Amino acid sequence: MADLHQFRTAPEEPLDCIYILRCTGTDPLGSLEFSTKERKALRAKAKALGPRGEEGELISGECPLDVAHRVTFVGIGEEKNLTHSKLREALNRVMQQATKNREYQIGLGIPVSVHGLAAAESRLFALREASIADYTFDHFKSKKNEFEKIDGLHILPLAGETEKDLEERLERVRLLRTSQQLARDLGNRPSNDLNPEAFASAAKEMAEEVSGLRVTILGMKELQKEKMGGVLGVSQGSAEEPRVLVIEHRPKKPKKSVVLVGKGVTFDSGGISIKPAAGMGWMKYDMCGAGTVMGVMRAVADLDLPIKVVGLIPAVENMPSGTAIKPGDILAMSNGKTVEVDNTDAEGRLILADILHYSARFNPDIVIDYATLTGACVVALGHEAAGMMGNDQELLDTLRKLGEEVGERVWPMPLYEEYLSYLKSDWADLKNAGSRWGGAVTAGTFLQQFVPEKVKWAHLDVAGVAYNEKEHNGLPKGASGFGVVLTVAFLEHLLK
Ligand code: BES
Ligand code: MN
Ligand code: ZN
Repeated sequence: MADLHQFRTAPEEPLDCIYILRCTGTDPLGSLEFSTKERKALRAKAKALGPRGEEGELISGECPLDVAHRVTFVGIGEEKNLTHSKLREALNRVMQQATKNREYQIGLGIPVSVHGLAAAESRLFALREASIADYTFDHFKSKKNEFEKIDGLHILPLAGETEKDLEERLERVRLLRTSQQLARDLGNRPSNDLNPEAFASAAKEMAEEVSGLRVTILGMKELQKEKMGGVLGVSQGSAEEPRVLVIEHRPKKPKKSVVLVGKGVTFDSGGISIKPAAGMGWMKYDMCGAGTVMGVMRAVADLDLPIKVVGLIPAVENMPSGTAIKPGDILAMSNGKTVEVDNTDAEGRLILADILHYSARFNPDIVIDYATLTGACVVALGHEAAGMMGNDQELLDTLRKLGEEVGERVWPMPLYEEYLSYLKSDWADLKNAGSRWGGAVTAGTFLQQFVPEKVKWAHLDVAGVAYNEKEHNGLPKGASGFGVVLTVAFLEHLLK
């Protein structure tokens, strides 16, 4: 991805193009910092080119300033309608256009704010999205995508934004981008490349790259010792052994203790209750929750947050075979409860149950899990928000508010006591799937049975937001890295 710079320190050579985002009915240069002379020249240019700021508009001309060859005005519609998605789409359009025109050094002015968002929050969002707008995954292509060839992205300062202010913001954005990129790359890797063992290697590699992370991998022996019947059961149909990744950040004087759990099904065929062929390939994304946890752990280490944060990732493959679990089988979970496997495709909750129970040994105040858990959640919320359940209203309210700020929305769903009856088994303590109805909340209710006592817990069902089947809201096709930014914001909020 393009290197991020300040426009103030732009290279001696003129930039190929300066892009300026603008809304309808406003000054085309808005709050961008320019000298009176520059402002006058650019205004005159804007007038001559006649951009009106309408959504989708892209109008270019020769740049009247020496610092660049061309200037392009990017319309984004009315400011009062400017959402996170629309701003992200516009930034994506900038990158597409620059690629098409083979502009390798570009300037970017964003004198607009997401409607209803505090100016500083909006600025950070825009910079974050600009920095990752040219993300693409071409690791397996012999001929690499053109898209990522933009070399330098030079951000124009806003009036009153000092060099130091902007540098601090860019520094933060670079850090978060690395984490988001990690989460996306992991999500996009196919299952023959990213199997449970490779996931363990990815965690170890990450720990070598940053300082302050300790990675421990639990293999068959340890999982048997812990009696993790869910993890062992789900993986027993696959040729790949399961792994549980324990990634620890332990600062000297931690102010809080948080465990993050991520569903890491590197491929979900459904098992014996096999999924239909059409679209099954999407199930390489069934480890996106785990990808988010990896990304967050990396950011936590980079920021050296004074919070004890432990990432727990059960990594398994769900496959049908002669050794696979079958509907009707009864598994004994690590907390002693027994579960009748009603449907082998409800595997996420089986592995998460063991890990939620395991989280107790890290004495967390808060546990958050991230899982592409149910199709039902996608039916309910589409691709616009993750489903959120949990046992502590304050925790849920905080996540919801922060999610709205950073542009990663989470929406509450209930965990009524009555849902537990949907999971009643005739033969075991619990079965792993209810009827068709309430698919997202019965999954949440199942997980709740394994959450350690006195722990504040939130479950994020990210099935609809963790990846996109096509470009959506300015997000690329494939993994989105959803939850990385939200979780870092949440952890920092705990320190306030
Ligand atoms: N990984 C799937 C859920 C999923 C569906 C994620 C679509 C992303 C997109 C999960 O393991 C699953 O198969 N859930 C079943 C549960 C059912 C059998 C109770 C589902 O949602 O159909
Ligand atoms: Mn499944
Ligand atoms: Zn799954």
